Amino acid sequence: MSNLDNLDKIVSLAKARGFIFQSSEIYGGLSAVYDYGPLGVELKRNIRDAWWKEMTRRHDNIVGIDAAIFMHPKVWEASGHVGGFNDPMIDDKQSKKRYRADMIIEQHIEKLRKDEKHEEANAIQEKLDSCGSRKSLTEDLYEIIIENEIRAPESGAFDWTEVRQFNLMFKTQFGSTSTEEDGVYLRPETAQGIFVNYKNVLDTARVTVPFGIAQTGKAFRNEVVARQFVFRMREFEQMEMQYFVKPGTDEAEYEKWLEKRLEWHKMMGIREENLRTAPHPEDKLAHYARAAADIQYKYPIGWQEVEGIHNRTDFDLNQHAEFSGKKMDYYDQKNQERFTPYVIETSVGLDRLTLMVLCDAYREEEVDGDTRTVLKMNPKLAPTQVGIFPLIKKDKLQDLAHKIEEDLREEFSILYDESGSIGKRYRRQDEAGTPFCITVDFDGVESEGEDTVTIRYRDDMSQERIPVSNIANVIRDGMKSWKPE
Ligand code: GAP
Repeated sequence: MSNLDNLDKIVSLAKARGFIFQSSEIYGGLSAVYDYGPLGVELKRNIRDAWWKEMTRRHDNIVGIDAAIFMHPKVWEASGHVGGFNDPMIDDKQSKKRYRADMIIEQHIEKLRKDEKHEEANAIQEKLDSCGSRKSLTEDLYEIIIENEIRAPESGAFDWTEVRQFNLMFKTQFGSTSTEEDGVYLRPETAQGIFVNYKNVLDTARVTVPFGIAQTGKAFRNEVVARQFVFRMREFEQMEMQYFVKPGTDEAEYEKWLEKRLEWHKMMGIREENLRTAPHPEDKLAHYARAAADIQYKYPIGWQEVEGIHNRTDFDLNQHAEFSGKKMDYYDQKNQERFTPYVIETSVGLDRLTLMVLCDAYREEEVDGDTRTVLKMNPKLAPTQVGIFPLIKKDKLQDLAHKIEEDLREEFSILYDESGSIGKRYRRQDEAGTPFCITVDFDGVESEGEDTVTIRYRDDMSQERIPVSNIANVIRDGMKSWKPE
C-alpha cells in the first residue's frame, strides 16, 4: 500500500525534484495555477502520449483534432455554459472566504450524521434535494443555511452574504476596442471544439457512425474552491473523446466505454484497489447528460473523480444546429436513414491523472535504517527511464558510459550522472521514478571478453551484471513485464 496520508509529501517532492511548481512563485504565486518542471513535463507528456495512442491509434474509427481555445461566443450560449455553468456561492463576511452553498450544507449534514442526529440530517437533506422548487435555487439554499444556523467552516462565524450564482468561465476581449460584442471566453471544456467540427470531420475523414473524435488541450475555469494542488486548477488540461453513435445503441456504448476507460487506468499501472466507478444519481446529472459516471481514484484527499464518462445524447449537436442554423444530422447510406447521432463522452483531466500517477507510485521504505522515498510508477511513464553512471570520474568508465548513453538515447529517455556517491545517485533516481540505472565499473571494462555493466532495478533494488550489447533488450523486457506492487 501507498503510505501517503496527505498531499503535502507529494507537493514537496514535486517541487524539490522539479515535477510541479507554483505558477509565478517569485511573485508569491498565483492561486490554483501551476507550472510543470523538467521531470513533470516529461511525465505529463508520456501520460498524454499513452492516452492518445490508446484512444486514436488503437481504434480505426477514432480520429484526432486540435481545436483553438478561443471559440465563437455563441458556442457557449448553445452549450449551456453561459446560462448554466454556475455555482451557487456564499461569502463569509468575516473571513472574506467564498464557499459553495450546497457544499456547506452537505458538510453540515455529514457532521450531523457523525453525531448520530439522523432525523435532523434527513430533514435538511430533503430540503436540499428539493432546492429550487420553493423559491429560486439561491434563495432556497440561503434559507437552509440561515434556518439551521450553519457556520463558516474556517472562521466559525455566522455572518453570511446572500447566495449568488457565479459563472465559472473566464471572459476576455477580442480586438483593440472593448465592447460587449467583442467578449470571448476561454473554453471551460475542450468538448465543444469537437462538436463544432463534427461536420468537418464527417466530410473529410471518411468516417461512418459509430466514430470518435479525440482531442487534448487546455481548459479554463474560474474555480472558487481551488486549494488542492493540481487536483483543482483554474488552468488545466483535458483529454476528451466524443463517440458519435446511433440513438438506441447509446446505452450499450456508454457501458462499454466506462469499462474500457477503467481498464486503461489499470493498464497504466494504477493499483486496482485505488480505483472505482461511481454513477451520478439521476437528480445530480449535468444539464446535457442522460447518464454519467465518474472513474474515481483514492487520492490522499479521499475518493475523487479523475475521469467522467457521459451519455450526452444529441443535446450538443441539436443545440449547435439551432444556434448556428446548420444541419448536424447524419445520413446512414447503408440503411438509408437519417438521424442526429448521440454522443458518449470520455473526459479525463491530464493534471489529475499526473497527480494520480504520482500518488499511486509514492512509497517510503525502510532500507538499512534509512528511509528511501521512491516513485514506483509504470516505466513507460517515467520521466527518465534510464540513469547512466560511471562509478567514478575516470576516462575509461566515462567513455563507455557516454557510448551507452549515445546508443540508448534514441529509444529511451536518459540521464547521465557522475556526481556524488553511487548510493546517492540511486536515491536521486528513486525519487524521480527512474526504473533502471546502469553503472559502469572497472570489473565490467577490465575483465576478459565483452564489456559488462550493472543494471539496478528501482522497485526491489536488485542488481545484475549484463553484457553491454544486451542492455536495450533487458530494459525493453523490464518495461513489458512491469506490474504494480
Ligand atoms: N466535457 C465534460 C467535462 O468537462 P467535467 O467532469 O467537468 O466534464 C472532466 O471535467 C474532467 O476534467 C474531470 O474528470 C477532471 O479530471 C478534469 N477537471 C475538471 N475540472 C478541473 C479542474 N478545475 N482542475 C483540474 N482538472 C479538472
